[in-house]
Amino acid sequence: MQAVELKKGVHWVGAIDWNGKDFHGYSQAQYGTTYNAFVIKDEKTTLIDTVKADYKGEFFCNLSQVVGDLENIDYIVANHLEPDHAGCLVEAVERIKPEKIFVSPMGKRSLETIYHAKDWPLEICKSGTSASIGSRTMQFVETRMLHWPDNMVTYIPEDKLLICSDAFGQNWATSERFADEVEPVLLERLLKEYFANIVQPYSPVVLKTLDAIEELKLDVDMLMPDHGLIWRGEGVKFVLDKYREYSMGAPKPKALIFYDTMWHSTENMASAIASGIKSEGIEVRIMHVKKHHHSAIMTELMDCGAVLAGSPTHNNGILPYMASTLTYMKGLRPQNKVGGAFGSFGWSGECVKILSDWLGQFCDVVMENPVKIKNVPEHTDYEECYTYGQSVAKALKEKIAAYKG
Ligand code: FEO
Repeated sequence: MQAVELKKGVHWVGAIDWNGKDFHGYSQAQYGTTYNAFVIKDEKTTLIDTVKADYKGEFFCNLSQVVGDLENIDYIVANHLEPDHAGCLVEAVERIKPEKIFVSPMGKRSLETIYHAKDWPLEICKSGTSASIGSRTMQFVETRMLHWPDNMVTYIPEDKLLICSDAFGQNWATSERFADEVEPVLLERLLKEYFANIVQPYSPVVLKTLDAIEELKLDVDMLMPDHGLIWRGEGVKFVLDKYREYSMGAPKPKALIFYDTMWHSTENMASAIASGIKSEGIEVRIMHVKKHHHSAIMTELMDCGAVLAGSPTHNNGILPYMASTLTYMKGLRPQNKVGGAFGSFGWSGECVKILSDWLGQFCDVVMENPVKIKNVPEHTDYEECYTYGQSVAKALKEKIAAYKG
């Protein structure tokens, strides 16, 4: 897609990944993604970020459309050094020969160790550093671990722009550039998916960043993330509020049951537990780990205050897809969850202890007395599952009440 002028003198020069389904090797991106890069034409024409190396043709073409000869660019800002945003940086530096390259202190280290940059004209930007580009000023704020140590954001007060790197993004390849031009329900779903799978572990940094935006009284009427649609007008408040809500992680009245099964015993237990949860007025969703990508399970968990893990015992352990999903879930540090475990067994029956131990690593509360059924459940076993579901629902309601104070 060709370059787009977003505001007078401010241009999108990124690339669209229409067919990408896999995001960085760990998350789904069913709708593709975009790699956003920007050029600001001023006395010092400035390029902000680049794109993934696979898209360098589209990127350099868009850049030329806006600036003509690439040597007309004076400055480069590298807000983030992950290869989907700095994949063309080395070639850009060679072709542009910039007067200055602005990076965060941690960004300098990434430049040295990822791109082996030497003798580049770096300007190291701690939070609070600013630089004039003519009629505009760039103000830099470090946002370490949002989502890598090197991340920073660039604020342009004269245009009320916040070029916000990994924050507020979504994986969605579209011909439109603005969030108010696309279907809102899917947009919010993809915003949540991106937060759940990429930003969630850094929720405390998000809250600090949101507070800094408020304290500095940054007047923002355009938020420009590195992936997906750009937020403007009322969309700015919408997405800032959503990020605060996601980062707080308040417990919600819904339960997620995820499981794997061999001969359907654990699967049937999941259904009976779900009925018990529902009988207490709590919504419930069941997901088989082989039918749903782990990133879809994490997105669902954003709406759930309780999480139940089910697996039969297998070789004195749990089934491998459950171990993989639990590893992924723990790493994303979900907050304010009630956990529960269940599973069938034939001989040794370690499954529920292993699942409970996993859940204990990221849930505030793990239910005692998880349900363990030998071989194939019968009526009384299903009653036990149902009652267990009710007790999980009651614990969740207590947690929600305690959270609200
Ligand atoms: Fe899209 Fe942290 O990179």
